[in-house]
Amino acid sequence: MASMRRIAVLTGGGDAPGMNPAIRAVVRTAAAAGVEVYGIRQAYTGLLAGDFERLTSRDVSGIIGRGGTILQTARNLEFKTVQGQKRGLRRLNEHGIDGLVVIGGDGSLRGALALHELGFPVVGVPGTIDNDIWGTNMAVGTDTALNTILDAIDKLRDTAASHERCFLLEVMGRNCGYLALMGGILGGAEFVMIPEHPTTLEEIGKVLENAYMRGKSHAMGVIAEGATPKIHEVAEYLSQHEVGFEVRITVLGHVVRGGSPGAFDRLLATRLGVKAVELLLAGESGIMVGLHGREIGTVSLEDATTKQRAVSEEYISMAEILAK
Ligand code: F6P
Repeated sequence: MASMRRIAVLTGGGDAPGMNPAIRAVVRTAAAAGVEVYGIRQAYTGLLAGDFERLTSRDVSGIIGRGGTILQTARNLEFKTVQGQKRGLRRLNEHGIDGLVVIGGDGSLRGALALHELGFPVVGVPGTIDNDIWGTNMAVGTDTALNTILDAIDKLRDTAASHERCFLLEVMGRNCGYLALMGGILGGAEFVMIPEHPTTLEEIGKVLENAYMRGKSHAMGVIAEGATPKIHEVAEYLSQHEVGFEVRITVLGHVVRGGSPGAFDRLLATRLGVKAVELLLAGESGIMVGLHGREIGTVSLEDATTKQRAVSEEYISMAEILAK
């Protein structure tokens, strides 16, 4: 195989804190190997539009601590079609690109797999607050998002305790309960609701009634956006059934996607970005780099995009036990 002279990088799906340090690591690792890097703006939308910009080491100065992504991101429907993927490949060839690093969530990694299957060299980096990607212990962005959730819980507890209230906090995560479950355990919530482990309104009511009768000054429930019943149904049920605490709702929304990446995400993003380029330049393709224990390992993009992460039963029971 001829050696690579020019690679490209894009960030896709929802932005996640740590995408910038990952871009920086990609650019500087390639530069150190004498390889040019092009950034593709707005993910597959920019790929189809030919929106490429040369990124030098100086262009990524000062971004290691910045949230979001300097390359911007987008969700693109056209790239889900074979025709769109072929057009994307054509754009890469037009720009003389020899390989691509895709940083993003499951949709972006599926796009990466499609390009690989068309014969183009691609390595994926998991980047999403949801932590729903199979093949890595943690995705880039998840830890920082979790810390934002903990900050919100700690602040809500102050007001909850002052008013003897129960706060219901909805957090993002799409169909994955990771952020809600860990937020609940680490924030000391009375209950957690996640899509992978359905709960009934009656069960929640009982938990809160018992917490009230045991003398708790306040309560907290962390609800994943993908869980059922939905947060407003829970609030209505609890208000109607007089569990003791007054109920208030907070929906954290996109706040969790923002902010400066923490130490964990900066390190993870840097290690994954470096490894992705090293592997791409070594002729690898169709793989995703990820955190396996303390080491950076790889899985196939096929597995990463088709296998389901299992929710940890140990954490579910820990959440219940520690809430007592
Ligand atoms: O995948 C990241 C995520 O923030 C999910 O947690 C959430 O469901 C979704 O993206 C929100 O998407 P959008 O930014 O398009 O509203």
